[in-house]
Amino acid sequence: MTKFEVEKAANLLRSGGLVAFPTETVYGLGADAKNPDAIRKVFQVKRRPQNHPLIVHLAKIDHIFQWVCNISPEAEMLANAFWPGPMTLIFKKQAHVLDIITGGQDTVALRIPRHPLAQALLTAFGGGIVGPSANVFTRISPTSLQAVREEMGNKIDLILDGGDCEVGLESTIIDISGDDRVPVILRPGMIGRTVIENVIKMTVVDNANSNHNHNNTEVRAPGMHRVHYAPKTKVMLVERQTMAKTITKMLNTNDRVAILAIGERSHNDRCYKALKEVHNNIHIINMPQTAKEYARDLYQTLRSIDQQDYQCIVIEKVPEDESWTAIRDRLLKASASI
Ligand code: TXA
Ligand code: MG
Repeated sequence: MTKFEVEKAANLLRSGGLVAFPTETVYGLGADAKNPDAIRKVFQVKRRPQNHPLIVHLAKIDHIFQWVCNISPEAEMLANAFWPGPMTLIFKKQAHVLDIITGGQDTVALRIPRHPLAQALLTAFGGGIVGPSANVFTRISPTSLQAVREEMGNKIDLILDGGDCEVGLESTIIDISGDDRVPVILRPGMIGRTVIENVIKMTVVDNANSNHNHNNTEVRAPGMHRVHYAPKTKVMLVERQTMAKTITKMLNTNDRVAILAIGERSHNDRCYKALKEVHNNIHIINMPQTAKEYARDLYQTLRSIDQQDYQCIVIEKVPEDESWTAIRDRLLKASASI
């Protein structure tokens, strides 16, 4: 990617255009965070309801002072530990931050991505760039140039090509805007709870397992929509051990079924052998065994299955340990469509 293209992208943003850009998590749909008309276009192109607030992306930690009211010691520790990187923090906002960004709330979500091209764009542009994931509302976030093309078609002005995203799942969102200073994880990501707690030396609340709402307001947490991050093909989450039984019960033997299995040896696994015997038309896809690699590949794999003619995606349940939390969250949301 040339300097010329980054300049062109920054100029498009200055003139109110929409530019998709890579981050290490997923691709974002960028617009000037000071331009309400451009931001309105983001909502239109994504077909996203207006009350879903947007993340403002910035180049450097120093820039956050222009957007937020106060920075608690915990916020400072988190920022220093994980920025630039796959983390978003929610702060009390300054008065100038547009309502269309925050959904009328008194908080704003900020992120400093580390992808070199995101950094180059933010530096060339100089200001904040709103960046929801560059997909149509409720669909899977794009993690490659091709995926952004599929989602956005020719409705946007430019896509910067940063290759495949390294993390592959959306950033960890931590709300640190509460007066009680208790950090709340609103959306799990690949920066997990334990590393966060080790940095700030206090317990954080995981929103998925609690109703903690420290601002006494309705927090518009991501993925509250029942169907979120969902492929078009129906998704079932099943334990490996009960796979053959469940599939026999739930699916027609002529349905074309894609199975996301964990690990290389799954073809020799007793459960999968049994499955081949009961069903004619299954295709087993071996997903990586580590959470990091599984996360990186998940959306690309679901997207590619979606483009083939399958009636169902059966996903083997992933391990219960903390490193898989964000993946479990996305899989649950993907399977909520049935
Ligand atoms: O990894 C990511 O975070 C990607 C890349 C492009 O940065 N962005 C992303 O944006 O996932 P989006 O808009 O698809 O998801 C951001 C979520 C939204 O679901 C929204 O509800 C939540 O962040 N959010 C934004 N501002 C908020 C606020 N002030 N309070 C609570 N939630 C907020
Ligand atoms: Mg999104």
